[in-house]
Amino acid sequence: MTQSSKVTNTWDERYAQDEYVYGKQPNEFFRQQLQTLRPGKILLPAEGEGRNAVFAALQGWDVVAFDSSVEAKRKANVLAQEVGKIIDYQINSFENFNTDEQFDTIGLVYAHNLNRQENHRKLSGFLKKGGVIILEGFSREQLNYNSGGPKSIEMLFSVDELKSDFESFSSLNIWTEEIELSEGNYHLGKASVVRMVGVK
Ligand SMILES: C[S@@+](CC[C@H](N)C(=O)[O-])C[C@H]1O[C@@H](n2cnc3c(N)ncnc32)[C@H](O)[C@@H]1O
Repeated sequence: MTQSSKVTNTWDERYAQDEYVYGKQPNEFFRQQLQTLRPGKILLPAEGEGRNAVFAALQGWDVVAFDSSVEAKRKANVLAQEVGKIIDYQINSFENFNTDEQFDTIGLVYAHNLNRQENHRKLSGFLKKGGVIILEGFSREQLNYNSGGPKSIEMLFSVDELKSDFESFSSLNIWTEEIELSEGNYHLGKASVVRMVGVK
């Protein structure tokens, strides 16, 4: 079994339950930041069960999402149907996703992955000049908390690494914050996160 099929199976198992494991509401930071922007085209990599994609569609955004989990897509489509929206949701990976489209915004919400630097470089290429990346993910300090997230340090975010990944951006605000998470059963309790808003 390859590394990526192992990842997919693990996520499919988690998503097989009826419950939306991160809830049906969008991530709070993503919600706040998106509402400051004029709707256009948005890309949501590693979108999971669709909470952020459906919120964006309801706000008038033209949404493209992808995730490597088949179960994630199935549940995202159910959520979209519940509110009468259609989203372009593809089964794909950071490694293989490609498009000729250029996006106004990219939302990276808990999109933890092993090839961070390479994937961030690739995603930046899909962003229009002046486009915005909104990111929230667990910080390295999250290893001290039990409110969710990967347990391996290389999958956790650091402010310095993100600064370096997006150093060519015209504006970059990145910080670590301790917050109280309440996103389903898997992001629950006090947590240390990194938040970023970057303009290309
Ligand atoms: C913590 S969940 C976050 C889901 C969603 N962004 C949210 O906030 O609700 C991480 C997601 O990354 C996806 N994933 C993991 N590795 C991936 C990869 N290499 N390419 C695409 N998706 C991946 C998983 O299937 C999972 O849905």
